[in-house]
Parts: sequence; structure tokens; C-alpha cells
Amino acid sequence: ALATTGETKKQTVRILLEALRSLEYRGYDSAGLAVYDEDEGRIKVWKRKGKVETLVRLLRGVRISAPIGIAHTRWATHGVPNEVNAHPHLDCRGEIAVVHNGIISNYLELKKELIEKGHVFKSETDTEVFAHLFEEEMKSKEPFEAFKSAISKLEGYYAIVAITSKDPERVFFARKESPLIVGKGSDLNMVSSDIASLLRYCSKVAPIEDGEVGWLTWREIYVEKNGERVAVGERFFRPPWTPEQATKGNFPHFMLKEIHEQGTAVKETLMSISTDPRVKEVLELLEGRVVVVAAGTSLHAGMVFSYALGKLLGKDVILLDSSEAYHLEKLLKDTVIAISQSGETYDTLKAVRIAKRNGAKVIGVVNVLGSTLDREADISLYTRAGPEIGVAATKTFLSQVTLLLYLVSRMSGVELKDPHLLVESSIRKSIGYARSLAERLKEKQSMFVLGTGASLPIAYEGALKIKEISYVHAEGYPAGEAKHGPIALAEEGFPVLIAWTPEDEEKLQVAKEEFASRGSEVYWVGPRGDIVAPESDWLHLPFTITPPFQLLAYYMAVLKGYDPDKPRNLAKSVTVH
Ligand code: G6P
Repeated sequence: ALATTGETKKQTVRILLEALRSLEYRGYDSAGLAVYDEDEGRIKVWKRKGKVETLVRLLRGVRISAPIGIAHTRWATHGVPNEVNAHPHLDCRGEIAVVHNGIISNYLELKKELIEKGHVFKSETDTEVFAHLFEEEMKSKEPFEAFKSAISKLEGYYAIVAITSKDPERVFFARKESPLIVGKGSDLNMVSSDIASLLRYCSKVAPIEDGEVGWLTWREIYVEKNGERVAVGERFFRPPWTPEQATKGNFPHFMLKEIHEQGTAVKETLMSISTDPRVKEVLELLEGRVVVVAAGTSLHAGMVFSYALGKLLGKDVILLDSSEAYHLEKLLKDTVIAISQSGETYDTLKAVRIAKRNGAKVIGVVNVLGSTLDREADISLYTRAGPEIGVAATKTFLSQVTLLLYLVSRMSGVELKDPHLLVESSIRKSIGYARSLAERLKEKQSMFVLGTGASLPIAYEGALKIKEISYVHAEGYPAGEAKHGPIALAEEGFPVLIAWTPEDEEKLQVAKEEFASRGSEVYWVGPRGDIVAPESDWLHLPFTITPPFQLLAYYMAVLKGYDPDKPRNLAKSVTVH
């Protein structure tokens, strides 16, 4: 959302669309926009099912002078993705427009009360309830008081932004658990769930914290908590990323660009972590009991870490999938490392909050400065991957691995040698092979990706990439374990990919024979493989054999005609549970 003045008012629609584009990776089931049209003196709304581009087309040629506006791109939770359920939602009279991330858990009770009071609803969403609640409160209060009072009736979690034609200079906002960031630009102020959408217009940004409510005009940002004014001036910082970093450059997709940026990402992460004064304290904490929580690709980075510590130091690290961690509350104590690219994954934050309640020290490994995890962790360590826009994580994975293996190297004395050069050589060597194998594999329904030792986390990660963007079922599995069940699937033409490691080639060879003798097509990813990757020792293996899998997944998706940057049903950061 934004509030602006002067000539910039004519740009409100364009700026909002531009901002939506840059956060489309958070969800793209539907998109919508509402502004206050100052010539007509009313709120206007446009919504479309599907990607932001459909909304852009709808608004082509629309010229409006608007001091305030809000926009949203949706990842459906309550209600199917369609135009009616798309945000913004309005009150009965079309005088209030609201967008919302999160879940209002008591929305059915609120809705019932509002219907009794005569409100008529158009959608099934929890968000629309807030628009009506705000309308109801406005009957007796001035807008900000009404907004606060409406917010105080909500249960669940949310980041909510609203405008009303009764107050056409202010944008109202509130946060409980879901991310929200304000930004200052010239002639405008903005508020968004994501820093990426603010980069182009705001020179300074500041996170809004839990339980805060406020409003902004083009010249002022006002924040309150529990009825007291909060000074947020100190919180503002200059975003470390440039808007150019969040563009595709000459690449056809963000994912391909981000795969190619991995050498730099790894190098910068290593430079930054090796001069980070917080590492000393982290190493002390790691001497004790360590639990790692993470989701998705970040979880695979956690596997690399726990494997290396076990192998080199005999240190047992408990690794918990963050969506499951709350079942084992009692394990979340001592030192907890939470790994998260976005720093906003709900499940991971939930585990972190439990850990803190249990008195644990939380170390965050995070790519987004100022994110919720960054603020809630006792110590944050930063990956320096830059903004990652492709939904499938690539450069952030190898950056997490770099940071975590750096800690391992400090603990064990084993040195990490030029990982960025390995990554670059891996991409150069494997790209052509990955592309031609993608041609062969793209029509398959299902496959295994087998690994052992250090290559097992990479097999899991490779399989995840293939599933996420090419929609081919791929299952990462320990090579030796595959004979205990999964091999039942082996038949003529069934593909099996093997992620090489120098630790036990024989074991991989045995798995290959077991599958090949049953008609399976077996492909190796490694130094003498069907996809060629550089030689390396086990410790550096993530840097050499991860890129081939990323590239394979990328080309499978592209050859099938899918957009690898915006896979169906997925969102870059899942801020709901
Ligand atoms: C989502 C994304 C995954 C990502 C996971 C964890 O599911 O689609 O690509 O790995 O969240 O994200 P985080 O930001 O916590 O690393």
C-alpha cells in the first residue's frame, strides 16, 4: 500500500502494479488493487484470477490521480482462488478496501454478528469480514479509532492494510505475526509484507512489530502499541539490496539467473561469515546440545550441516522439520539453529517461539535482514545471496550450506577450499548435459534420486527441485535403503538418478545394478557421469553436485512449457500454517 502526493499521485496505480510484480513470488492465485480516485471522490477496485500480468492488462490505459492505494497478490487459504475471493475486499458501501495476509480464526463468529447487523457478504474469505467490521466501527468512531477497535476483535494472525474514502490521505495497517514493513521514499510512504516490493521506491525501510497498529500518509508514519505511541525512527535502515538485483537481467528466468549467481553468493557469504564477530559466541553455543529446525530447501541445508558434524566430530545434531517440531516441544531447548531464507516461514517461527519459551538460545541463519526470524533470534547469521525471486530456492541453498560448513570448519579445523570456484566449474561443466538429459526425462511420471553419505541431502534437494518446478514425481532416497521397498517400482524405462559421492562408490554401483537389472534407466550425476560434475571430496560435494540437479529441474520445467519461477500451488515464503 502507499500514500503519496503531488504529481506522484498519477503514478499510484503503476507503482502498485510494479510492487505487486516484485512480490508475485509470494503467491499468484489472484491479484487485485484498490485506489482512492480523488476526481470521483470514491474507491475503485480491480481484481483478476491468475497472475499479476492479467491485472496489468486490465489496468492498461487507466489514468487516475490517487493519493492512496492498496494491492495484493494471493495464495489461497480460505476460499478457492477466483475473482470474488481475490483481495482487496470492500465493505457494504464500497467506502473501505482491505487486503490481508494470515488467517482470522474467529471470522465465522464475527461474520454471524455482522450479518445480524445487516451486513451483506460477497465472498467466503475471512478478509471480507474485516472490511465490514471496520465499517461497523466507523459508524461511531473516527477512522483510526475504528480501525484499532476492529483489529482488537480479531483472533488469529494477520498483516492487514486498509483504506477508506472517509480519510483519503491515510493508509491503516496492523500486524500480528505475519510480516509487515514500512518504507520511506520521496513524496511517498509505503507499507508491504515484503521488502522486495519496496526496493524501487523507498530508500529506507523499517519492520513493524507484533501487536503494532498505525497509519501512514505521504509525509508521516505513525505507530502505536497497546495505546502508546511507538517511536520507529531508530528502526529504519537502508535495504542492503538494489532494485536491479531483483530483476532478471539478460536471463529468461530468475531461476536460471540465480543458479548462475551461486558462485558470487557463496563467495560473499563466506567472506561475510568469516569476518562476522558473532561467530565466536555461536561457536561457544555449538559446543552444547544443538537442534536444527528448518523447512523445505533450508531443511536440506540443515542435513548437510548435521551430516558433516556427525562425520567429522561425532557430534549429534537433532534435525527437525519445522512443521513437525512443535510435537516435540521438549526437544526445543539449549541451542536451536533456525535456518530460513525468508525468515518468515510460519512453521519455523513457531518452533523458534517454543524454543525461546523453553529458554533456548536461538541462532537464526537468514537471508532477509529485518525479517521476523532476524529480529526474534538471539543471534542472526546472514547468508549473502541477495534477493532470491525464483520460488525454487537455489543460490540461497548453497549460501546456507556455505555458512553452515564454515561453522563446521571452525569447529573441526578442516578447511573449506574455494567453494565458489567449484560451483562455477560445476555449472560450466554440467549445463549442456543437464539440458539434454532433461529432454529425455521430461515425459517421465516418476523417478528416484539416490544418494549416500554426503550426497544424500543433495539427492533430497535435487528431487525437491524436480518436483517443485517440473511437476514430475521425484523421490530422494538412500541408495542402500532403496532395495527395502522402493525397488518394487523398478521396471522397463523407470528412471533412477544417482548422486555421486567419493565416500562409497561401490554402494552406489550396487544400487545401480539392482535397478538396471530390472530394466531401469540409471543416470549418474558426478565426475564420470551422464551429467558431468567436477571431482571433489565429500565435504565440498554440495558445491559440485547441487547445480546439475538445479539445472536439470530447470530445463525439465522449461521444456515442458512451465514457468520455473512461479510453480503452481507454491509460494516463496509460506507465512501460514
Ligand atoms: C516454501 C518454499 C520453499 C522453501 C521453504 C522454506 O515452502 O516454497 O522453496 O524452501 O518455504 O523457506 P525459508 O524461507 O524458511 O527458507
